[in-house]
Amino acid sequence: MKIAPSLLAADFLHLEKDVQMLNANADIIHLDIMDGSLVSNISFGFSVAEPVCRMATVPTDAHLMIIHPERYFERFAQCGTKMLSFHYEAARLAHKCPRTLLRKIRKLGMKAGIAINPDIPVQKIFKYLKYADFVVLMSVFAGFGGQKFIYETYDRLGDLKAEIQRRGLKCEIEVDGGVGPDNAAGLSKFGADILVAGSSVFRSEDPAATIRQLREA
Ligand code: DX5
Ligand code: ZN
Repeated sequence: MKIAPSLLAADFLHLEKDVQMLNANADIIHLDIMDGSLVSNISFGFSVAEPVCRMATVPTDAHLMIIHPERYFERFAQCGTKMLSFHYEAARLAHKCPRTLLRKIRKLGMKAGIAINPDIPVQKIFKYLKYADFVVLMSVFAGFGGQKFIYETYDRLGDLKAEIQRRGLKCEIEVDGGVGPDNAAGLSKFGADILVAGSSVFRSEDPAATIRQLREA
């Protein structure tokens, strides 16, 4: 499994130090972009994402929790973001076809992802899996770090994995929210390819060791 620590839980007064630590230990750097509209919280924008992408030597993964995500695809591509995801719910609100959005992201040279909150049946996105490089399967409701992992995620993950395997697709599954050493092994067993982990990495005594522990789970 690949581990994608979420910068949301990092120390923003010492971001350089944390990005260096992630360059040396993580597989991916996850950037949570929140607009206060699609989700109630506001995180950070290009003033953080741009220098982080510039400094990152591992791929960066921007998770857009914003309405009208397509307005910002090009800017994220220019920043050097390697993976970009938007929420299925945002596409629906803006009456945009997720397939068109996924294609736009790929055309800009990034891996394209579609994210879904825990209350969206995974079956809703089956028809887009062919156009997606990854799915962000939320295991908490998007908006805040440090929430409790929702147990039903295992079943959703199993259903999604079965569909991807049945159709022989390459789409990866990234599980995001409340992930830590206590559930990483289970998520691996149920088919997760990438684990996003914020609090469990940055609040641990030894973040590098926690990343290794999650990867080997
Ligand atoms: C939630 C974000 C997550 C979050 C993960 O809206 O998408 O990436 O920061 O943080 P933890 O691991 O603390 O749940
Ligand atoms: Zn995220």
